Amino acid sequence: MSSVSNILSVAALGPALFASVTAGAAHRRCAGSPSQTAGFAVATPETSAILIASSAVKSSNASYSAATGRPQHTAATGKASATLTGLAAAAGTSTAASALASSTATASPDDYSSWTVSAIDALQNWYDEDEGLWLSTGWWNAANCLTMLGDFYAADASDAESLDISAIFSNTYTQAQTSDSSSKVRRKTLPRVHAVPGAGPARGVSSGLSHLAERGFAGFLDDYYDDDGWWALAWIRAYDVTGTTEYLAMAESIFSTMETGVDDTCGGGIWWSTDDTYKNAIANELYLAVAASLANRASSAETYLSIAEGQWAWFQNSGMINSDNLINDGLTINSDGTCTNNGETTWSYNQGVILGGLLELYKANGNASLVTEATTIAEAAIDALSVDGILHESCEDSGCGGDVPQFKGIFMRNLQALQLQVESDSFRTFILDNADSIWNNDRNSSSYLGTNWSGPADSAGSPIASMQCSALDALVAAVAVY
Ligand SMILES: *[C@@H]1O[C@H](CO)[C@@H](O)[C@H](O)[C@H]1NC(C)=O
Ligand SMILES: *[C@@H]1O[C@H](CO)[C@@H](O)[C@H](O)[C@H]1NC(C)=O
Ligand SMILES: *[C@@H]1O[C@H](CO)[C@@H](O)[C@H](O)[C@H]1NC(C)=O
Ligand SMILES: *[C@@H]1O[C@H](CO)[C@@H](O)[C@H](O)[C@H]1NC(C)=O
Repeated sequence: MSSVSNILSVAALGPALFASVTAGAAHRRCAGSPSQTAGFAVATPETSAILIASSAVKSSNASYSAATGRPQHTAATGKASATLTGLAAAAGTSTAASALASSTATASPDDYSSWTVSAIDALQNWYDEDEGLWLSTGWWNAANCLTMLGDFYAADASDAESLDISAIFSNTYTQAQTSDSSSKVRRKTLPRVHAVPGAGPARGVSSGLSHLAERGFAGFLDDYYDDDGWWALAWIRAYDVTGTTEYLAMAESIFSTMETGVDDTCGGGIWWSTDDTYKNAIANELYLAVAASLANRASSAETYLSIAEGQWAWFQNSGMINSDNLINDGLTINSDGTCTNNGETTWSYNQGVILGGLLELYKANGNASLVTEATTIAEAAIDALSVDGILHESCEDSGCGGDVPQFKGIFMRNLQALQLQVESDSFRTFILDNADSIWNNDRNSSSYLGTNWSGPADSAGSPIASMQCSALDALVAAVAVY
């Protein structure tokens, strides 16, 4: 793929994106919030310089770790020839053999890597080099796209390097936080409203938040603590795979702002946003995950560990985990000051970030019960949210709005992290089956992936970058856990 054809395809995508996004934008996330149509506009092709100019042809020579059966890519060229049988023999354990036997997957590790490369190539048609962000989707989504790229890097460094993923990290690091453009204000409000480049000053931004249009996103901060958490995790992942200490320092700096969002309402926990009206699951899971991740990486590890342990102790007793071991969207603050589970949707991402948070906390303090807790939640989520083994969001049949298409990938990414720890046959099968379904049923002829992982790709309109990154998380998970 040449840079010229990339630019042309951005031009071709423009009107379709505008139509599909505005058509499907009713926001369903938070009960009590009025539905509102997101205000999108599309960048002109001229503003859409493309970072990734050349398509990476899959060229790694995969070999396999005898201990784990996971692919270990080398720089040499050549196609991996391992079959399922060969892999089981190489893995040399009955666990691996039975996992292979119980999976309906027929793809090879090399297939998952090459699918991922194709889908990242397609994703990059939306990457705007000047913005450091992906057209067609929002500010917080970009952090998740970046994290997905980091996970691919961790699972398959040679292919990631062929895609020049470290250059995407450094470009986004520089460009996304520049404060010179109101077009950066592509963020959620209550309900989330987006604006993208070309929208003009502060279009789509509620008046109370228009200061962001002036301030921009210096330090990767907006007024939503969950968005801050997504960016902190993205920079932690980028640090993991590149060793760039600036990224880790940025994550610590973002976390220091998150700390200011914690108070004693509901006995603790972080607010969703700076307007201090909602204590919800996602912001609090992210607060745990970032603190625990920093405890494993940053120099003041003890401080981060103690914050993470305190946060988990609070979360566990907050009421947000229901009797089915699923996590609802958040808490109702009662008139007497007590807080109770608000019974709102058990979104897939609410069952996801907690898994990674508990894993990181386990790695920091060695408490194996945390892994058991994570496994219980993951099993409950797979039971409750999948249909015929494929993960679905409850709103898929009625329209999921602008945010939700990102969610399932977040679950898969964190299930991947759990699976690397617990090596469960059923988690592995679930991950591979979802990746297979996405590729076989939910992909259009240009490698764009839709939001209904049972397909078809255009079930909710033409795919947009949030859908692409979300589905990619599942493909990357398959690469990582094979
Ligand atoms: C792949 O790598 C293995 C181990 O280094 C080597 O034995 C094999 O010949 C290589 N295959 C190809 C096709 O390059
Ligand atoms: C270990 O984690 C479990 C599960 O959250 C918790 O109940 C227990 O108190 C923890 N143990 C210690 C020693 O912190
Ligand atoms: C998603 O896919 C499933 C299985 O094909 C189908 O039953 C369901 O109606 C689809 N949802 C939408 C919104 O297309
Ligand atoms: C595939 O999806 C892309 C992105 O939404 C869209 O622009 C393109 O038209 C689709 N291609 C087909 C053949 O549907």
